[in-house]
Parts: sequence; C-alpha cells; structure tokens
Amino acid sequence: MIKDIIKLAPIALLALSACGGGGTVNNGNAEDRFVDSVVNSLSLKHKIGQLNQVTAVGVEEMEKLAAEGMMGSILNETNLDNLHRIQKAAVDNPPHIPVLISRDVIHGYKTIFPIPLGQAASFDPELVRQGSEISAIEAASDGIRWTFAPMLDIARDPRWGRIAEGYGEDAYLTSVMGAAAVKGYQGDDLSKETSIAACAKHFVGYGAATAGRDYNSTFIPMRLLRNVYLPPFRAAAQAGCATYMSSFNDNDGVPSTGNKLILTDILRNEWKFDGFVVSDWFSVGEMINHGFAADMKDAAEKAINAGLDMDMVANAYKDYLETLVSEGKVSESKITEACKNVVRIKYRLGLFQNPYPTVSQDVKYAPEHLEAALHAAEQSAVMLKNNGALPLKNVKKILLCGPMADAPHDQLGTWVFDGEKSHTITPLAAFKEAGYDVTYVAGLTYSRDSNTSKFAEVTRAAKSADAIIFVGGEESILSGEAHCLSNLNLQGAQSELLETLKKTGKPVVAVIMAGRPLTITDDIKNTDAILYMFHPGTMGGNALVNLVAGKVTPSGKLPASFPKNAGQIPVYYNQNNTGRPASGNEILLDDIPAEAGQTSLGCTSYMLDTGFGPLYPFGYGLSYTEFAFSDFSVNKTEFSGENDEIKVSFTIKNTGNYEGAEVAQLYVRDLVGSITRPIKELKGFKKVYLQKGEQQNVEITVPLSSLKFYGLDDKEILEKGEFEVWIATSSANEDIKWKTKITVK
Ligand code: NOJ
Repeated sequence: MIKDIIKLAPIALLALSACGGGGTVNNGNAEDRFVDSVVNSLSLKHKIGQLNQVTAVGVEEMEKLAAEGMMGSILNETNLDNLHRIQKAAVDNPPHIPVLISRDVIHGYKTIFPIPLGQAASFDPELVRQGSEISAIEAASDGIRWTFAPMLDIARDPRWGRIAEGYGEDAYLTSVMGAAAVKGYQGDDLSKETSIAACAKHFVGYGAATAGRDYNSTFIPMRLLRNVYLPPFRAAAQAGCATYMSSFNDNDGVPSTGNKLILTDILRNEWKFDGFVVSDWFSVGEMINHGFAADMKDAAEKAINAGLDMDMVANAYKDYLETLVSEGKVSESKITEACKNVVRIKYRLGLFQNPYPTVSQDVKYAPEHLEAALHAAEQSAVMLKNNGALPLKNVKKILLCGPMADAPHDQLGTWVFDGEKSHTITPLAAFKEAGYDVTYVAGLTYSRDSNTSKFAEVTRAAKSADAIIFVGGEESILSGEAHCLSNLNLQGAQSELLETLKKTGKPVVAVIMAGRPLTITDDIKNTDAILYMFHPGTMGGNALVNLVAGKVTPSGKLPASFPKNAGQIPVYYNQNNTGRPASGNEILLDDIPAEAGQTSLGCTSYMLDTGFGPLYPFGYGLSYTEFAFSDFSVNKTEFSGENDEIKVSFTIKNTGNYEGAEVAQLYVRDLVGSITRPIKELKGFKKVYLQKGEQQNVEITVPLSSLKFYGLDDKEILEKGEFEVWIATSSANEDIKWKTKITVK
C-alpha cells in the first residue's frame, strides 16, 4: 500500500482520502493525509520499528533490520554501498518506509568550519547559516539527511568540555546562532536533496552539569530554566527545527529522557513542535543508572509516556513497547503519534520520493566551501591583546613555534568524524605558502608535552627572527564530550615556553587554538599580542596568516566570559544583582595586613584573590582599526504592549587605518522586577563591516516582547517600569558608548 502511495505525485496525494486499517484519517493537508495513511496502515510492530534507531552494527544485520521494518533510523554508517543496500532493503520490503540516515555533522562534514563556540565569536549569524548549509550539502552527498546539531546548551562553565560545541554562555546569542544553523541545515525546503534535518540538542539544561563534569546532574530551578536554558530551544522551534534530542542529565531529579514536562508540556503543547524527539545515546537505558527506572522495560515505558519518540541505540522500544501495550501500560495511540512524528519528518525530507542520495561527490571540499571556511575562521578569531605587535610590520623572518603550529588533526577541533587532516592548512603550511621566511621549531610536540629539552633550540632560532609566532592551546581531544578539566591553564610546558620566548626580547604573538576559554592569566605578560582562534578548522592556517598580515582585521568577540582561574567559575556576565554588589574598590588579598582582626572586609560579593570581573568579559575583542560612535537616538522613551519596538539608531565610523568590522551590542537592564533581574542582558547586536573612513547608520530593533521574562508562578510577563538600554562594544561597563532610560507603561 505505501509503495503505491509514494508513487503518487504530490498532487495526487492531495486527493488521497482514506487508506489502510486502524486509526483516524486526517482530512487536513496533503502532508497530514500522507502521514496518516502511511502510519494507520502499519502493524504495531512496524510502528515501533520506526522508533528504533540503530548504530552501525554490520551491514548484514542492518539490512535485515531494515527489511523487517524494524529500523527507523541509522547513525554512524557512511559507506555509500552499505547505505544503498540498507535503504533498498527498507524500501523494497514492507512497510516500505525509507530509513533516515544520520550523523554528527557538528561544524562541517569534510570542509571543517571553526567549532561552534568559535563561530559564535564571529557574531555573524549569516556565517553560521552558510557554514551549516555547506555542511548539509557535503553530508547529503553521502546520503546523510539528519544531523545532530546545533547544540544549544548554555554553557557558563568552561570546565565542561562541550562548551566547544555550542554558542557560549548567552541565551540571546545562542538563540540567534542556533536559529541560523537550523536554517542553514534545513534550507527553505527540507525536501531539497541538499537539505538535512537539524536536531536541537541537548534538551535541556545539559550545560549546567555540576562542576562542569559531563553527564552530571543539573539543578536548574524552573524560572532559570525558562529564562536562560529554554529560550534557544524555543527559537529553534520557531525556526522550524525538525528534531530535538533529549539530554543525558537529570534536572532536579528527573532525567530529560523521561521528563514529560519538557518533552510534552513545553515542547509539544506550548511550542507546537510537530517533529520528533530522539533520545541521546542509550539515554533511555541510562535512566536505570540514574535510579529512575527499574529496568529496560520500565525505562521504555517512562520514555514513551514522557513524549520521547525515538530510542537511540538502547533497543528499549524495540524489545518492550509491544509488551507494554499488551499490558496496558502504554497506549497504542501514544506509539502511533510517535510514529507519525517520525514519518512526518521523513515525508518533509522527501525521502519517500527520493530515498537515495543524488548529490554529486564533487561538493566535498569544493573551492567555495573552503573559501567560506576561511572567512569563518578569520571572523571567529578574537584579539585579546595587542601592544602594537600586530599586524606584523617590517617582519621578514618569523620564528614559528608551539604545539599547534603544525597540528593538522588538532586544529580541526572536537567532533570531526569525516574531515580529513590531509586537507588541513596549518599555520606552518600557510606561512610558507604566503612566502614568509619561516623557521619552524615546535619546541613542544603536542599540547600536553612537558619536555623542555627543545627550548634551547627555540631560543637560538629566535635570534635571527624579527617576530615570534607561538601557536598553542589544547589538542582537539581535550574538549568536547566527556572531556572536562578542572585546571584550565595551558597544558604541558606551554607557559614555560612562552616565558622562554619573552626572554628573547623579540615580539611574541601568541595564537591560541582551543575548545574553551583557557585561563591564560599568567601568560599574558609573556606576550605582545594574543589571537584566540578557538579550533579554527580546515582553513585555520590561512586565516591566521591573513590576520597577522593585516589583510583581515580581527573582529571576533568573546561568546563566553574568560575566567581568571578555574576557581572563579561561574563568572558569566548576566548575573543577577546581589544585595551587596562589589564596587570594585574593595580590599584584595595583598591589602590584608597580617593578623588582621575579624572583619568581613569589603562586605560585598567578590573574591579576595581574583577580585571582581573576569579575565576578559563576554562580548570583548580588539581590532586593528578604530571605530567612532555618534548620533545616538532612540525612537521614543515610553513603550507599551508586546508589539511595540525599541529602535536605537546611531552612526559607526571606521576612523582607523584598516578596514574592519565592529560588533555593536545592545544591552538592557530591567531596573526593578517582581523577581531580581540580571544586571545586563544582550538583546540585540549588529556586526558592521566598514572600509577605512567609511561610516554607516545602524539601527538595532528590540521587540518589546523580548523584555518579557518568566516571573512568579511560571508565567511569562512584560513588566511595567524603567529599563536602561545601552550600546557597547563588550559587556563591560567601560565599553559602553551610550546609555538611555526607557519606560514600559
Ligand atoms: C552522544 C552525544 O551526547 C550527542 O551529542 C551525539 O549526537 C550522540 N552521542 C550521537 O553520536
């Protein structure tokens, strides 16, 4: 029957009325009628089959499962011949439903883009959209039609290795970038052969793992969940994200995979999500470890009843749902709904009509893809310090050193399964290609190397160099899933190497490639300039050369606050005001006399050793050029109603000597609320590219609805009162360019 249905042209599907046994037939649109007719004709077993996701377990086994209709989706198989065999087995045998082929395509498939945290530093959503689109095109050429990205977890703790995979600490930036990624992967039309389904993960709260230890419990109260952790997922739903992934963590005692409140009440009922939710890897089974389910059968019951549609690799649904239905613990209609959610996305992907890939293999590493990856790497770099060493001037001879200067695998970053290091352009390769006279002495062979025996050679080589470029940071394996650290200093003997370099008296440019903010506090003094590139991907070397040569001006801004040391974490910018906020004039450790009498000293909220702020604040980043802001105005001072809009206009002029880009950031502060409110919140930004001497009028619009928050009683409200609104070039008060007060009536 389904075979007949899928042969019908879409127009014929419109005319389709009723089909197959069981269930109600929807008389709505063509999609609903198609989904209903397919699913209503399925046996219970075959409905369950659609909810089962299998990892690569050998082609024969997968072919068998597909032929039996017991595998709705597969992950981690990329051999095209195998995939063809598996897909053929699925579509040639009842119930003739194609398998959805999935993969973790996180920041590129073959052409690797900067890690998402780096992409966030670009503050350029179009760059994120384009990178995701390119990733989709390349992945689709190997039959992949579903990626487990974007990761939308707010990460306020850089000890957590997965901070690399998301867009940082801020809910607004993550929402904007996440929506851009969804649009990039899915395109305007999911059924296009080059579009792939996105997956908003990890739903929800996973980034708040206790002490930054991956997989750990979270304790996010409802209001914080609503105001900080959920908004990026809501933005993804609004952007039409096809799928969600439940997270590993239990929040306040409830594992996400069994959490009806988030999977059903919020995602489906409030946000009207009509795609499907997949578990994380074996997270149905992990509810047993959590002590939330007694056994696999109990776990299957809890997951399906909470609203989890697809079981990733645990086989819990395949093995137990039928029995659970016969025992009356799970209703068949629950399974029918879940199956419809899966089939709906397969329909939208056009899989029923085109189950096999048709995208040319030539798209991989296409020149325009490499060009986009280069642009992304350039825009992701954040210049943290520059005493004039950059851009390089009158530099003929360079000493290139450090463990990441020629590390083709490691500069790609975490979650790279398919990108090959043979395509990576390292700094060494790029400096040579650009015609620099380069002496390369690594000094350290990898980031954790603590063998200092090569330092004397580095010092000797420095004698004849005009400048030293140190490229360090952390290997890709030190960040990402399960790779958490309690000490975020440079690993191995990298700090000692920087100290040695400083002693040579030559200018030292430190380039850091890392998956997270590192605590480089004590290294700063040993550098003349610092470029933070995160893990920049395939084209990182070329991007670095263009940046240090001044062909491209650094314009990245930090997507997460950099702590001075790990003990200062969390140190995110948008904290609530305390009853005793620090003034910045309090006593610090060195100010305390010996045998000081008992006193609370500053009596405010700060640390005696690390003081008040972070090492570098959220939104911070330097440029080679200068920007002048002028002519600020706001459309009015009194606003009312959710549909009203705050419009701030101003002019930015590039008054320096290089073309470049500035990110104008709009922050607000709700002065008095029914609950304490953050001291500042990013609500808008615009990245403006300007030639030397060029100026542009800029307008940033903030819908009044974005001043709403979840207050008492879990209700979203727009509260009346005064708000401060300002434009700045970082979240730090020193970088405020203009400030005003508005009233919401
Ligand atoms: C576990 C990870 O948490 C998730 O992000 C990933 O998509 C799945 N494994 C599948 O590989």
